[in-house]
Amino acid sequence: MHPIKKLEKLPPKREEIETLEILRQLSKSSTALGELKGIAKIIPNQAMLINAVVLQEAKDSSEIENIITTQDELYKALSISGNQSLQIKEVINYRKAIFSGAEIIHNQGFLRLRDLVELQKTIIENNAGIRSMAGTVLKNDKTGELVYTPPQEKEEILDLLSNFLDHFNIKEPDLSPLINLAILHYQFESIHPFYDGNGRTGRILNILYLIINNLLDIPILYLSSYINENKSEYYKLLNRVNKEDEWENWILYMLKAVEITSNRTVEKINSIKILLDKTIIKAQEKATKIYRKELIELLFEHPYSKIEFVVSKLGVERKAASRYLKQLEEIGVLKSQKIGRETIYINTELIEILKRN
Ligand SMILES: Nc1ncnc2c1ncn2[C@@H]1O[C@H](COP(=O)(O)OP(=O)(O)OP(=O)(O)O)[C@@H](O)[C@H]1O
Ligand SMILES: [Mg+2]
Repeated sequence: MHPIKKLEKLPPKREEIETLEILRQLSKSSTALGELKGIAKIIPNQAMLINAVVLQEAKDSSEIENIITTQDELYKALSISGNQSLQIKEVINYRKAIFSGAEIIHNQGFLRLRDLVELQKTIIENNAGIRSMAGTVLKNDKTGELVYTPPQEKEEILDLLSNFLDHFNIKEPDLSPLINLAILHYQFESIHPFYDGNGRTGRILNILYLIINNLLDIPILYLSSYINENKSEYYKLLNRVNKEDEWENWILYMLKAVEITSNRTVEKINSIKILLDKTIIKAQEKATKIYRKELIELLFEHPYSKIEFVVSKLGVERKAASRYLKQLEEIGVLKSQKIGRETIYINTELIEILKRN
């Protein structure tokens, strides 16, 4: 039998979580994240940037790798009219949940239990809410072996969640917020309060926690890519905290994730900014008559664009919108592609940037 070790409340013992190695890594992670926060401020059209990064985060965090393998396919699917596949809906829901979570934090500065339940509901699209029936266990996907048994009684789950939220919402915590981030993420996943969607909800909470602590203003860290690329390590380390209270390597893992993904996001933002400026100049020079800044920005908000988008963003007739896009294709800014009956205009250089890891 698998011995069930009761999940303890926060916080863990301080000596286990402030080792020298952790403090060293912490300083690198804080610097990288600080740079990201700073650079995000200087981007002129934030909506554009957020869309691209959040979409990528949503893709990496959702279980769509087998179906939608590339950024292009995802954008293509999003730009096509009509019913979306379940996988695409999942990405859209995830993105919606990040945005609504960030808005809650901006408006009220903390997260309530009901906000948390609402987030998971947005992701999963059902009303099951917090687990009230026993039986949920975590198994190894491949071997089917029982890995971890989360608390089973609703009362205990609620008690642990309330302790979790108290720590999540603390203003200026004693411990560095990035160390807390790792602890909170472990705790949330181990409480495993829902029947499904605990991973995705927890990954959104990570970003929201950074916003609560003013480490980011907008939800642009693209943290799930690291977790996704280092998944077996992720499971192994969670499991070692469960079984042996082995916090150090888990915290180091999460700190490293923050460092690496912050650096990546900074690079991405820089490249996008350079391309945006270059595209604006090119359109001003070679398509002078139709040049409008909002038109170019639209191509960055929607790397896969189409006539309808131009019509609604610029308030012009279809004919004019179509002419604009064709002309931008002529000067080499866009490439058109027919998908079914629709023509999609692709900002290919932007797609290249978004694809890079
Ligand atoms: N040993 C463990 N202890 C605590 N949490 C774990 C452990 N193993 C896995 N988890 C967490 O459980 C999550 C999966 O739970 P669930 O299926 O409810 O979430 P999901 O969002 O549907 O899935 P996924 O995270 O795979 O996208 C993992 O992402 C991980 O965070
Ligand atoms: Mg699941």
